[in-house]
Amino acid sequence: DGFAAEKLFNQGYSYTYDDVIFLPHYIDFPTDAVELHTKLTKNISLSIPCVSSPMDTVTESYMAVAMAALGGIGILHSNNTPSEQFSLLQSAKSRRIPFVSDFEIKSPSDVIESESDFGSSSVILVTETGNRKSRVMGYVLKSDWVSLKNKDGRVCDYMLKLDFSVPNSYDLDQIAGFLGEKGVKLVPTVRETDGEVVDLMTLEDIERFQELPKRGLPSLASNGEFLVGAAIGTRESDKERLEYLVKGGVNAVVLDSSQGNSIYQLDMIKYIKKTYPELDVIGGNVVTKYQAQNLIQAGVDGLRVGMGSGSICTTQEVCAVGRGQATAVYKVSSVAAQCGVPVIADGGISNSGHIVKALVLGASTVMMGSYLAGSTEAPGAYVVQDGRRLKKYRGMGSLEAMTKGSDQRYLGDKSKLKIAQGVVGAVADKGSVLKFVPYAMHAVKQGFQDLGASSLQSAHDLLRSEVLRLEARTGAAQVEGGVHGLVSYEKKSF
Ligand code: XMP
Repeated sequence: DGFAAEKLFNQGYSYTYDDVIFLPHYIDFPTDAVELHTKLTKNISLSIPCVSSPMDTVTESYMAVAMAALGGIGILHSNNTPSEQFSLLQSAKSRRIPFVSDFEIKSPSDVIESESDFGSSSVILVTETGNRKSRVMGYVLKSDWVSLKNKDGRVCDYMLKLDFSVPNSYDLDQIAGFLGEKGVKLVPTVRETDGEVVDLMTLEDIERFQELPKRGLPSLASNGEFLVGAAIGTRESDKERLEYLVKGGVNAVVLDSSQGNSIYQLDMIKYIKKTYPELDVIGGNVVTKYQAQNLIQAGVDGLRVGMGSGSICTTQEVCAVGRGQATAVYKVSSVAAQCGVPVIADGGISNSGHIVKALVLGASTVMMGSYLAGSTEAPGAYVVQDGRRLKKYRGMGSLEAMTKGSDQRYLGDKSKLKIAQGVVGAVADKGSVLKFVPYAMHAVKQGFQDLGASSLQSAHDLLRSEVLRLEARTGAAQVEGGVHGLVSYEKKSF
């Protein structure tokens, strides 16, 4: 019944995830018995198969920390200067708690002019010179400031004194313990190496964390820091960028290119493997066996797969090059598996079913942009449009992003003309990744259970041994597989 993957993907068609469907197999274990632990690269293990994309509207330090706390990993984007990217890395590496702390800082001699000076937080922290690097002196609660009769004074006239902090290496339980013992409502966490303020934790924050869905094991390096990856390009100047990142303790680098099978990338892989033999290198992007073989021979520890499948991509239309993502993942994985190189299925994920398809077709992880871009942890502020909260999401090949510097990914050589291969848009607010990713992982486990696969390895084995069967879906089958035949209604009319 149905087709073996080897037959389905060898008929001359380029299939996307939606074009194919698995036939159910046999269930002999509960959903919770499904194990999603996996590998990002030859040497890096993760407890969930999720990677956030190196895009400037997806992965900066908060996303990297949250992804690692969930058991996945974030790849910091490189649409910035080397020292800016280093700061993002340092900020992620300083954190032990996946907390988005958006508080303002003032000095004692500053004045608070309006409520908007508090930004989105309910507290202003006071340090000696008004920046994160100086001594903590006090704080002002918004609720106290609002009820002040005379608001003209300086911060030192009404701030509450704060002469304690905890080291940034404290975990949630240690911070909760400290707040309980001291009988205080908030405490700054301070980086042990240089005294810089990292976060400002309140009792309410801790309670919010404790209500989050259960997470798997976090992704930690041997020194207890979160695992963090970073993107770089293949120019000479990227060697300097890489030096910064290695100093900052980066755990893996992604060579960020839309067509990775180039002399520039092969040279860079060899350079990195010679200069930093301990560092894991992810090459790509690739969509064919031939491309993959070249990068594997050059020594990559992981392969990133996808060309033009991303939600904001226009590469296939602009350049007439690319491949349907289901076909690309299957083809590349079949050669990568023989060499023990894990595959990252990059782009085109818009629901948990796509994650199941990517993983069963051979990927070890999925890389996501739009799926994560509307979250609390993504960079940028929410805007309200037509009553909906949205966050900006843009392709790194969009003119807007390239103007900021990401042109290398799409130009590769020394070309000067800029041709857009991506667009700018917005995505809806999804809340915290700490909340919705665990639900998505549970859905993925249910998909695996339907297929009778209790782990990624068993799914890959079942696919290759042709026990798992697939079919292509007609247009009508795709419509039938989605919600259809309903009219919208307002509850009150019933
Ligand atoms: P999703 O579908 O998760 O895709 O939003 C994210 C992936 O898309 C790639 N990417 C681009 N591809 N033009 C492209 O052709 C672009 O401007 C662009 N920006 C990102 C990238 O691989 C990312 O991980």
